Amino acid sequence: MAVLICGGAGYIGSHTAACLMDAGEDVIVYDSFIKGHKKAVMVSRLIQGDIHDEAKLLEVFADNDIEAVMNFAAFIEAGESMKDPLRYYENNVSGSICLIKAMQKAGIDKLIFSSTAAVYGIPKHIPVCEDDPTEPVNAYGQTKLAVEKMLMWADSAYNIKYTALRYFNAAGAHEKYDIGEDHHPETHLIPIILQNVLGQREGLKIFGDDYNTPDGTCIRDYIHVCDLAEAHYKALLRLRKTKESAVYNLGNGRGFSNKQIVDTVSEVTGIKVEYEMAGRRAGDPDILIAGAEKAKNELSWEPEYKDVQRIIASAWKWHKNNPKGYDDRF
Ligand code: UFG
Repeated sequence: MAVLICGGAGYIGSHTAACLMDAGEDVIVYDSFIKGHKKAVMVSRLIQGDIHDEAKLLEVFADNDIEAVMNFAAFIEAGESMKDPLRYYENNVSGSICLIKAMQKAGIDKLIFSSTAAVYGIPKHIPVCEDDPTEPVNAYGQTKLAVEKMLMWADSAYNIKYTALRYFNAAGAHEKYDIGEDHHPETHLIPIILQNVLGQREGLKIFGDDYNTPDGTCIRDYIHVCDLAEAHYKALLRLRKTKESAVYNLGNGRGFSNKQIVDTVSEVTGIKVEYEMAGRRAGDPDILIAGAEKAKNELSWEPEYKDVQRIIASAWKWHKNNPKGYDDRF
């Protein structure tokens, strides 16, 4: 039986597809290529399709023996979601409704869902745990929370079991396969700094220095993309064994301010990164640091990339070798 990876040509999806393949799983990637990259797909079975296309999904489910689905297909930018929230609801919520409906019709009862730390909004305490209040401060986080709630009802009504994985800040690149982070446009801090180092972009701006943090810039918990991928595999093993739905935070449990990240990139690359301070970006919480004990205990998961230097070094290696990313957007 196979695992269908929707959005498997995107950043986290492609690393997860490679991880499952290495673990000996039968993997099929399903991607619209609106955001994903064909070159990021390391597995041999690839289907072009959209999660909004119920007929296509039903066809895929009928033609293949699919045991479980992982859904990475989503828009992911908190800042953009504040400017165009309906686009986020349409893609992230409507797309998931369509996928879950097709799964229900086809009798597929296991789903691993890409959720986010953005569901917490401004955490009441740090590190933030799964049972803490979920009050998103951006539309992106709200759409992911809406899907989590929908999954809860889909479990009780249709017996579809799910694992929602709330990622903190994904970063880094694969060190065995030539895959890494390539978004268009790029909005994430680490690849933006690296593009500045490579001279592809000018004028790095740090958004806001008046946050409630020691240096005034936002603090985030960076987790290596291969550690996220491994957690998906472990979540699949657990779902098979326990047949119980669950929610987990995935992070390293350590926070770095935006200024610290700039300094670490300077250290890793040996090139002094210059930046200017700019105003706040809408929808950014001050601090997000994961309490990830639940995932460690219940999934037997432990991040391999514990220090941020190593995470950034893997990203730097990929960006240096692939200065144009996948070079497929013209
Ligand atoms: N930032 C800058 N300058 C830039 C880009 C980003 O200062 O040019 C800042 C942001 O304002 C924020 C920090 O860098 O303070 C991190 O921003 P990212 O855009 O890299 O990441 P986010 O924390 O906004 O969001 C990411 C993912 C989300 C996920 C979230 C979970 O994009 O999908 O992490 O913490 F939900």
